Amino acid sequence: MKAVIERAYAKINLYLDVVGKREDGYHELITIMQNVSLYDEVRIEPRESGGIFLECEGMPISLDARKNLAYIAAEAFFAAVGKVGNVGIFIKKQIPVSAGLGGGSADAAAVLRGLNRLFGQPLSAAELCDIGMSIGSDVPFCIVGGTQICRGRGEVVREVRGIDGCSILLAVAGSKASTAEQYRLLDMKYKDFVGYNHGVGYEETLAALEGGAGAWALAHTRNVFDALYEDSGVMQEVKRIMRECGARSVVLSGSGPSVFGLFEGSPEEAHRALMERSVKVYSCDPITDLP
Ligand code: C5P
Repeated sequence: MKAVIERAYAKINLYLDVVGKREDGYHELITIMQNVSLYDEVRIEPRESGGIFLECEGMPISLDARKNLAYIAAEAFFAAVGKVGNVGIFIKKQIPVSAGLGGGSADAAAVLRGLNRLFGQPLSAAELCDIGMSIGSDVPFCIVGGTQICRGRGEVVREVRGIDGCSILLAVAGSKASTAEQYRLLDMKYKDFVGYNHGVGYEETLAALEGGAGAWALAHTRNVFDALYEDSGVMQEVKRIMRECGARSVVLSGSGPSVFGLFEGSPEEAHRALMERSVKVYSCDPITDLP
C-alpha cells in the first residue's frame, strides 16, 4: 500500500445565522460554507505496527496527540471498519488554528477521506459524514467540500453555486475564546434567541448566489457572530482597511476572529497594508472543485 496525500482546505461562511436552540445544547444553524485555496497537507502512510502516529509541522501539537481532531478521526475510522490501525499521519499546517477557518475540522475530514482511499473505500460519503459529525459540527462539510448549504448542527443539505471571479483576503483579526464560549456569549447577548429575527437576508443571499451574482451576492450576508466583535478595535480596523483598499464585502468567518474580504481585482494593497500592521493575512481564491 502506498501513502496517500489529501489537501485539507480552509472554509469561510458566506452566510451564518442561528435559527433555534436545541435540547442537546447545540444551536440550529443555517449556513453556506465555501472552501478556499488555503490548505493543510495531510499525508497518511500505512505501517506494519505501532498504532496511530501523528505529527504536525508548523504547529506545536498539543501535549496529548490523542486530543487532536485528526487523531480522533483516525481512531473513529478504524473503529467503524473494525480494523486495528497502524498508520503515520503527517500534517503540514498552513491554516491558522482557532480562527474560524475550520482548520482542525478540515484535517479530520482529510484523514477520513485519506484512510478511506488507503483502505479501498470501505465507507460511503454518507458514512464518512456520520463519523465526521461525531468529531465536530464542521467536519461533514469538510468531507464534502465545495460550496454547501448546511443546517441543523452542521449537516450538509445540498450543494449550491459558489462564488467565483473574485479574490479573497483572509485576515486573523485578534483572538477569541473557544467556540463553545462564543456560543455562550451569543446566548447572553440575544437572550437565548427568544424573539430574535432568525435568518435575515438568507433567501436574498441564496437567490443571488444561485442566480450567478457570485461574490457580490454577499452584500446581504450575515454572520451572527459579528455582533461579538463590535467593540474589538483590531477587528474594526482590519475591516476598515479592507474596505478602503477596495473590498466589495468584508465578513466574519465562523465564530471568528478571521474576517474575509472579497475583491474584484487583486487584494494586494490590503494584504500589504494589513501585513504592515502585523496582522496575519492570506490571499486565496474560492475552491469550487470538491477536495
Ligand atoms: O461541534 P463542535 O465540537 O465543533 O462544537 C464546539 C462547540 O460549539 C460545541 O460544544 C457547542 O457548544 C457549540 N456549537 C453549538 N451549535 C452548533 C455547533 C457548535 O452550540 N451547531
